[in-house]
Order: sequence, then C-alpha cells, then structure tokens
Amino acid sequence: MATQNSSFTAKEINPLNSLDEWEDAVLERYPDPESIATDKSTEEYRNYDSPQRDTVKEFYRLNHTHQTYEFVQQKRADYLKFDKKEMPVWQAFDFLNQLVDDSDPDTDLDQFQHLLQTSEAIRRDGHPDWMVLVGLMHDMGKVLCLFGEPQWAVVGDTFPVGVQYSDKVVYPEFFKNNPDYNNPEYQTPTGVYSEGCGLRNVNMSWGHDEYVYQMMKDHLPEQGLYMLRYHSFYAWHREGAYSQLLDDHDREMLRWVKLFNPYDLYSKNPTPPDWKQLRPYYEDLVAKYLPSTLKF
Ligand SMILES: [Fe+2]
Ligand SMILES: [Fe+2]
Repeated sequence: MATQNSSFTAKEINPLNSLDEWEDAVLERYPDPESIATDKSTEEYRNYDSPQRDTVKEFYRLNHTHQTYEFVQQKRADYLKFDKKEMPVWQAFDFLNQLVDDSDPDTDLDQFQHLLQTSEAIRRDGHPDWMVLVGLMHDMGKVLCLFGEPQWAVVGDTFPVGVQYSDKVVYPEFFKNNPDYNNPEYQTPTGVYSEGCGLRNVNMSWGHDEYVYQMMKDHLPEQGLYMLRYHSFYAWHREGAYSQLLDDHDREMLRWVKLFNPYDLYSKNPTPPDWKQLRPYYEDLVAKYLPSTLKF
C-alpha cells in the first residue's frame, strides 16, 4: 500500500514535526479577523527564525517539487479504487486518530477534536445539518498518512497541476524545481485544460481534500462537496487565482467554500468538546447521510 516512497528519506516523507505545523502556518497567513486586534502572539508571527517556519518551508519545497501531473495521476489511480480498507464510520475516526503528533501532546488536540470543534462551530451558527457533517468529515482524508503517503501528498495548500503555476500559491519560487515547470504544454494559462472548463475537469495536487471528496461524493449536497474538495485551495478561495479555469458553477459554489473556511481555520480551542453529551446528535447525523461503512 505504501506507494513508491522508497526514493525518499524519512525526513523527506515527514518534514513536519506534526501535520498541525502546516495548519498553524496557514493561520499565520490568514489570521482570524476577529482576534487580530487582541492577538498577543502577533509578535511571534514576525519571528522569521522560528524552527517551525523552516520545517514548513521545507515541506512546501518538497510539495512543489514532487507534485507533478504524473504523480497526481498515479495517486488517483491508486487511491480512488478505494480497495484499501472498509470500516464503520465511527471506527474510521479511531483510525484517523492513530495520527499522533510528535509535538507537545498537552496543547495539541487530536484529529477528532479538530473535526468536532469545526462541526460544532458550524452547528452553533445554525447552518444546515449537512454542513455540520462536512465539518465532521472534512479532514478524514488525512488517513492517507497512515497508508504511507508523505505529508506533502496529504496536506498543504492544493493547486491545479498540468497548467501554469500561479504566484498566488504560497512559496511559488519552489515550482521551478518541479519537472512540469520545464514542460511547455503545462506552462500556458490553460495548460492541458481549456478556458472556462470548470474545476471538476481540473486535476488538483494530490491530498486529503480530493480523497475525502471522492469518499463522500454520493452522500452530500453539491455545496458540501465543494467545501470538502477545495478547502485547501487557498489560491482560489482566498486569493482569486486560476479564474481562467472556472465556469459559472464554480463561481456560484465559491461562496460556500468561503463560508466553510473560517470554521476550519478559526474554531481551534484548547478545551475539547464534551463528546459524551454530543454523541447522540452525531450518531443520528452520520446515520442520516452516510452508509454504515466507509471505503478507503
Ligand atoms: Fe483539511
Ligand atoms: Fe481542518
């Protein structure tokens, strides 16, 4: 199951001390507008010598170097068969939680807590129940790490492959190391695609977004599927890049992707939700929309 990773060293497979380091870096880039004024840690963000910043930079170097068009085709062919595992939904959360961080276990919440905090924040604001379920499931694709995938093929900002890179993608200078950079067919504004073809026809860099979208695609409304599929596509939903590939449907769905993003980024809280109390609601919610088992 662990795919062709033999060519990578352990440090190249796991450049981050924890997956959270990527999310912390995204939070630095897009701080919560409601907490900026009072945020005491603003000074820390300016510390460019932080060791965490170095690991995140190395993470993006690897991501931008190795996520080629061909790499994405291989991962899609392998993982979208969903022939690796099958388990009940609640067991899948336990499986996901095997992703443990090397960093401080006292301050980091596990994956399930992040999912639950996201879904609870959505529920508190009175959004439809399917969106609460999106919050609960949105990072399930991170189980790719447990199948042996390098961190840079699981998390990180996503971007279209087979088309000219946008400088709105974080650390765009690293794309020069990608073999696709020297393929003229890929380096035009529409690349292997056509003007206005719609994102559904575009291959994104491989990661947890596309994987969980494919897992959920028969079970959630279209708006929810966009939230899952593009939640890490910051160059689009935060920076407005890649407009040449969009169709009217993407432009219509963008507001839903934008609606979801703050719940993912800004719901983190050191206090874990009271799972005992919440459990009946979530058991009903999962049973309403999802089949009894999930395929991986
Ligand atoms: Fe995510
Ligand atoms: Fe998340």
